[in-house]
Amino acid sequence: MNTPFADQSIILKIEMGPDQGRRAFLPDSEQSPWTLGRSIESSFPILDSQISSHHSEIRFTESGHQIRDLSSRNGTYVNNEKIFDWHPLSVDDVIRIGTTELSVKRTSDHPTPPTPSSESIELSHTILTDPGSGKGPERCPRCLQFIEIESTPVRRVSCYVFCSPCIENEDAAGRRMKNLTLLYELGRGAIGVVYRARHELLEMDVAVKILHSQFSHDSTQRERFLREARIGMSLVHPHILRVHDIDHDGDQLFLTTEYIPGQDLSHRILEQGPQPLEFSIPLGIRMAQALHFGHSHEVIHRDVKPGNILLDENDIPRLADFNIARAAQFTPASQNTPQGVVIGTLRYMAPEQLDVNRPVDHRADLYALGATLFHTLTGEPPFNTDNRLRLIRDVLTAAPPLASDRRPDLPAALDQIFQTVLAQDPSDRYPSGSAFAEALAYIG
Ligand SMILES: Nc1ncnc2c1ncn2[C@@H]1O[C@H](COP(=O)(O)OP(=O)(O)O)[C@@H](O)[C@H]1O
Ligand SMILES: [Mg+2]
Repeated sequence: MNTPFADQSIILKIEMGPDQGRRAFLPDSEQSPWTLGRSIESSFPILDSQISSHHSEIRFTESGHQIRDLSSRNGTYVNNEKIFDWHPLSVDDVIRIGTTELSVKRTSDHPTPPTPSSESIELSHTILTDPGSGKGPERCPRCLQFIEIESTPVRRVSCYVFCSPCIENEDAAGRRMKNLTLLYELGRGAIGVVYRARHELLEMDVAVKILHSQFSHDSTQRERFLREARIGMSLVHPHILRVHDIDHDGDQLFLTTEYIPGQDLSHRILEQGPQPLEFSIPLGIRMAQALHFGHSHEVIHRDVKPGNILLDENDIPRLADFNIARAAQFTPASQNTPQGVVIGTLRYMAPEQLDVNRPVDHRADLYALGATLFHTLTGEPPFNTDNRLRLIRDVLTAAPPLASDRRPDLPAALDQIFQTVLAQDPSDRYPSGSAFAEALAYIG
């Protein structure tokens, strides 16, 4: 029999449906309404076209959690029974709304995968004890291969044991910055170098972006960066990378964010080529909703591109670098950035971003997301040449290409969407991220 619960951390996990794998903590106090629905204003927004904007509500009471339907179109079901009024929830109950099934779990029943911690970690039924303890099997956190500690050269960094090839050329590995120990480089871009790092006090892995010194030594840049990072930190959304903190170690500014174990969209496309519609359309919808959320907080991203979309192990995307990208754009200092980095970004930039005399608003982000989605589906951005001047000329003057010319199996409705979102004149594009998301939802 299921037991009610009152004072434990309880999560909802999406077991089935377009958002499969996502989780959320249920409220643990009698706070404001906690809702499930398609709207991004919901406490746990779920991208399922069969779910109403405000579908169900969950509350915390002295005797446990309860759920009710909010007059949704398709109803709320608990263990296959339709519910009408407040209904108690128990561990292992299954909630169904639209085509989505969610299970109710205790956090202790459901350890957070797969970031290893200094306590025990569970990896495909093998319990590994205390990484770095020297007891039991160890796994290199980078390549995830098991290591024979006795017979293989290894290197310990923080609580981890790395296999030698993985850490050999990592000059920064083991370097301390405040409470962080750097582990290894995840990537580098126009703004700085990103490392996976261990937060020694929180005992969790984070990503740390150490900003190029041009940002810390120029006081105007530094101020601008800090101002924008502060705003960025206030953007809390399931599909926007969470920024934890901004700090400095001496002169060096760094930003810590959640660490996403997975890969970014540009690597996904490089490795696998054009992506199927079933992957690309939900991704486009989620990113359009994330942009809408940022825009409704008056924040423009300015650097939407595949490298700024991080996919977790369930392929759930997070939009990274919301708001800090502006610091890297066409400042005199940006001439120091490698040519490839600037060109990489140019391929997704709206025409008005390339013309200093034209105002740039949120519709530049919609264009960039359109170009990103075009790349995801066809394997190439709409305009693609290594010649910087020709690229700028194409973006400023040429009509957007047809996606179906490059990939004939794509539906004609997608061509129409790309023609709209990649329009030269921002007023011919979708007016908002949610309008773009809605147009994509017709395809999905
Ligand atoms: N939070 C993170 N978790 C995991 N990988 C990340 C994270 N942030 C960035 N990366 C990786 O580092 C790369 C470089 O990031 P970044 O410096 O933001 O480059 P860019 O300027 O091209 O956006 C990303 O493309 C991604 O592969
Ligand atoms: Mg980035």
